Amino acid sequence: MIPPGLYDVDRSFEDNYNEGPFYNGDFPDRIILPQKTKIWDSEVNSPVGVPAGPLPNSRWIETYFRLGYDVLVYKNVRSLEYPCHPAPNCRFVEESKQLFYEDIGGGLLTRDAPDDMKHLSITNSFGVPSVPPSVWMGDVEKALSSAGKDQFMITGILGTPGLEERDMIEDFGYVASMAKECGSKAVELNFSCPNVCTGEGSIYADPENSARISKVVKEAVGNMPVIIKIGYLPYEQLKAVIEQNLPYIDGVAGINTIPMKVRDADGTQALPGEGRLQSGICGSVIRDVSQLFTKDVVKIRKELGGDFLIFGTGGIMEADDAIARLEAGADFAMMGTAAMWDAELAVKIQKKLLS
Ligand SMILES: Cc1cc2nc3c(=O)[nH]c(=O)nc-3n(C[C@H](O)[C@H](O)[C@H](O)COP(=O)(O)O)c2cc1C
Repeated sequence: MIPPGLYDVDRSFEDNYNEGPFYNGDFPDRIILPQKTKIWDSEVNSPVGVPAGPLPNSRWIETYFRLGYDVLVYKNVRSLEYPCHPAPNCRFVEESKQLFYEDIGGGLLTRDAPDDMKHLSITNSFGVPSVPPSVWMGDVEKALSSAGKDQFMITGILGTPGLEERDMIEDFGYVASMAKECGSKAVELNFSCPNVCTGEGSIYADPENSARISKVVKEAVGNMPVIIKIGYLPYEQLKAVIEQNLPYIDGVAGINTIPMKVRDADGTQALPGEGRLQSGICGSVIRDVSQLFTKDVVKIRKELGGDFLIFGTGGIMEADDAIARLEAGADFAMMGTAAMWDAELAVKIQKKLLS
């Protein structure tokens, strides 16, 4: 069986936010790598981290730093309090084949928990909830202070469309300024959440519009590093997006999830509520497309003469997957789904990197 989750998928997001992570195990001795990894002007012990999503507050961040993950992304925050989609927010899904770009929007069935991490795939749909800035600003500060020596935290942010005060592009800049004000060392802009129903989820596919946002954010935060979190795209489109964003960014993270229509075996929509037939698939079933994304971004970086960092994300379930992602040229190997269940994965990867 897979280990018990640190994130309890049978409980609501609020329960997990308020009471998680559900971890009673020991914390490992730190594995110190002989060669540090550069992250802009800082250094980290290892290129091993957790992407935006599974770590919604400072308690989660502190736990994962103590588990040995050296680069953590604080789950996306917004300029206002924002509700979460109703539970359940995660379901296990079948993995009869690896999913690629051409599969987007197709159908997938749920399943019971798999026997091992290698076959763990889920759908996740939260809608990017946020506590108000009055809460997250203090909590981001606290989370930052839990980083050990040679560890680094990035703050994930999202602009919200439809506000009276500002349009979405300005809102991205506004949230980034608040993140900077509370001490963040880098921000990651979520251009690719498939679980919002208001258009923010497809920003990443639009070279001009995405670059407009990166520009506004860069102007707001000055020399603080800016990362864009994007999804898989065909090579030329991906190159156009990165090329337009290039003057304003210091990192590219991806992929996010692959959007699919998820049902139970009897045809019932797997996640309750309007607009939630389609949700984001992550875990083992997106490993190959994520590996391809890393290879493409490495090539694009070379072709464009860029010097941004690459946060290889998607389908890293075991130590060998992380090594393969780093060998493909990612500067960092980030695991979301796997880290929700496997508390020891960072250490397993670091031991492999040592050997
Ligand atoms: C529970 C959960 C919540 C997530 N929330 C976010 C989010 O708020 N922002 C974001 O950019 N990505 C989010 N993601 C996507 C992950 O960062 C990652 O891109 C995706 O899960 C693929 O990696 P994985 O296969 O290792 O899980 C979330 C993923 C999971 C599993």
